[in-house]
Amino acid sequence: MGAGRRILVTGGAGFIGANLVRRLLGDGWSVRVVDLLVTGRKEYLDGLDVEFVAGDIRTPEVVADALTGIDAVAHLAASGSVVQSVADPAANFSTNAIGTFTVLDQARRAGVGRLVFSSTGGALIGDATPPVDERSVPRPISPYGASKMVGEAYGHAFAKSYGLHTVSTRFANVYGPYSGHKGGAITVFFKALHSGEPLVIYGDGKASRDYLYVDDICAGIQLGLTADVPAGSVYHLASGVETTVTQLADACRRVVGKPDHPIEFRPPRPGEVNRNFASYDLAKAELGFSPTVELDEGLARTWDWYLAHVL
Ligand SMILES: NC(=O)c1ccc[n+]([C@@H]2O[C@H](COP(=O)([O-])OP(=O)(O)OC[C@H]3O[C@@H](n4cnc5c(N)ncnc54)[C@H](O)[C@@H]3O)[C@@H](O)[C@H]2O)c1
Repeated sequence: MGAGRRILVTGGAGFIGANLVRRLLGDGWSVRVVDLLVTGRKEYLDGLDVEFVAGDIRTPEVVADALTGIDAVAHLAASGSVVQSVADPAANFSTNAIGTFTVLDQARRAGVGRLVFSSTGGALIGDATPPVDERSVPRPISPYGASKMVGEAYGHAFAKSYGLHTVSTRFANVYGPYSGHKGGAITVFFKALHSGEPLVIYGDGKASRDYLYVDDICAGIQLGLTADVPAGSVYHLASGVETTVTQLADACRRVVGKPDHPIEFRPPRPGEVNRNFASYDLAKAELGFSPTVELDEGLARTWDWYLAHVL
């Protein structure tokens, strides 16, 4: 699908970016990455035929240069932590709101054909009775969720005002290889299972999430880049399966072969939604999206990668 076409991946040295870049290359895209290496790692792209630009998405000149000759953008660069956004909302706003505005504004000036924005399901919708979908009213409870709502709003506005073909994809909780630098539950659980520390659960363990293996997210982004859908569309990319934190801890213990590894409960953290999972019906109908990797299989693949590269 990408044969001969040129794509800019912002945040391409990050977790999802490193996986997406590999898929895009395999699909025939010519890939340029812009990344400030705040959390991402240049070595994730070692050996790949990728043009790398070390730069800040908040700087219009950097983004304008990076967009030269580009047909499509996968905009992943962001500060992705709910906890950090509560601690420092101004920093989160700067990267996520101003950064996304800058990418959109330069993309419409450059006449880019398609831009897929990486939004979020749980943090954007906030506390609502799941499953959430595209008709759920967004009521973010963290600055991170609010910043993604801003990005979606500008994406839609730029589609309507300037004809920039934006598609917002709301990710579930993504896991998989190249995530060793992340602070999400699966990374933390795997490190604790390896070191012998207890698995720490914030709250009573009944909070739930929708976990999606990174290959499925990347397949959804690829569909967002190429599918014949209206500009300004929004889709949930999710598994549709509700998994409590306790169930996740059990799955990690099972996959690693330590079913009796200790668990420690601590008070819940502000900004985190309680229950969340999403319906991907619209993405299935309009993008042809359908997740393929079940949780235990995805966790086993991720654990193998952690053993080889992180632990
Ligand atoms: N991982 C998830 O579960 C998840 C869920 C929902 C949405 N998302 C979104 O997906 C995207 C990718 O997330 P990820 O998990 O790969 O995170 P990540 O932190 O691994 O990747 C983000 C990348 O953006 C780069 N970056 C940060 N600020 C930058 C700046 N000012 N200029 C240029 N580059 C900058 C970082 O160095 C990093 O490589 C983010 O937009 C995130 O909000 C992720």
